[in-house]
Amino acid sequence: MAKIIAGISSSHVPAIGAAIDNKQTEEPYWKRVFSGFEKSKQWMAEAKPDVVIAIYNDHASAFSVELIPTFALGCAAEFPPADEGWGPRPVPVVKGHPELASHIATSVILDGFDLTIANKMEVDHGLTVPLNLMFGSPSAWPCPVIPLAVNVVQYPPPTGQRCYDLGRAIRRAVDSYPEDMRVVVFGTGGMSHQISGPRAGLINQKFDKAFLDNLTKNPKALAKMPHIEYMREAGAEGIEMVMWLVMRGALDEKVKEVYRFYTVPASNTAVGHIILENGVKAANKPAAKKAAPKKKATRKAA
Ligand SMILES: [Fe+2]
Repeated sequence: MAKIIAGISSSHVPAIGAAIDNKQTEEPYWKRVFSGFEKSKQWMAEAKPDVVIAIYNDHASAFSVELIPTFALGCAAEFPPADEGWGPRPVPVVKGHPELASHIATSVILDGFDLTIANKMEVDHGLTVPLNLMFGSPSAWPCPVIPLAVNVVQYPPPTGQRCYDLGRAIRRAVDSYPEDMRVVVFGTGGMSHQISGPRAGLINQKFDKAFLDNLTKNPKALAKMPHIEYMREAGAEGIEMVMWLVMRGALDEKVKEVYRFYTVPASNTAVGHIILENGVKAANKPAAKKAAPKKKATRKAA
């Protein structure tokens, strides 16, 4: 049976992609960011997932403002990098997994989530930057990737609760796929940032760190946070963090946080990253103490 082994959240700042493409990763400003993902790449090389499901948002690359699906699942065999204005990024074509993707689409739609099925789709930095951060820059991505694009570009985006519940539905879908495979789910975007208007440049470290804490320990409460609080505390683009709740919903209730990285700034945002593993056993209750056997009354020898 297929099994979700872990979830990863990561920012997908476009400038990180540009730093990789322009070979600036050793410059002090960028080294600070990339060094935070060295352990993650090692973790990923050991985890060796068979498939990645990557929750991300399209930045008007595959979908224009004429058509904005709330949730679009990539069911194609491959997803070429999109031209975001200066040519496609020099990264490998993302190979999909049409069989598992179709199974997920069927399962979650019959479960009540009216997904858009994308049989042809280009993918932008929202997807390719996290792949670079977790896999480096190989000549081919080491495993198939199923993209799930979420609208966080035009109001109204889905609620945190809806995203979390979609994650639960994806979990049920993966659990019911008959082939043995290890699946890792990415939640991308965030953290606090605002790219225009009077609050441009906003970064709220206190909010970001509390979000990471709750993502691990208290996701159900986090899922109830309304849009207005993301806007107020994390800036207009901070709403991208609802996508992390899809990832979290796909994991066990209790998870093991194996790695966290947070740094400020990268371009005009905070970079947040966390790795959560499934498979934490519920703590065994301490066994009830057995009553000590009664001592036989012995008569002292006279
Ligand atoms: Fe984004």
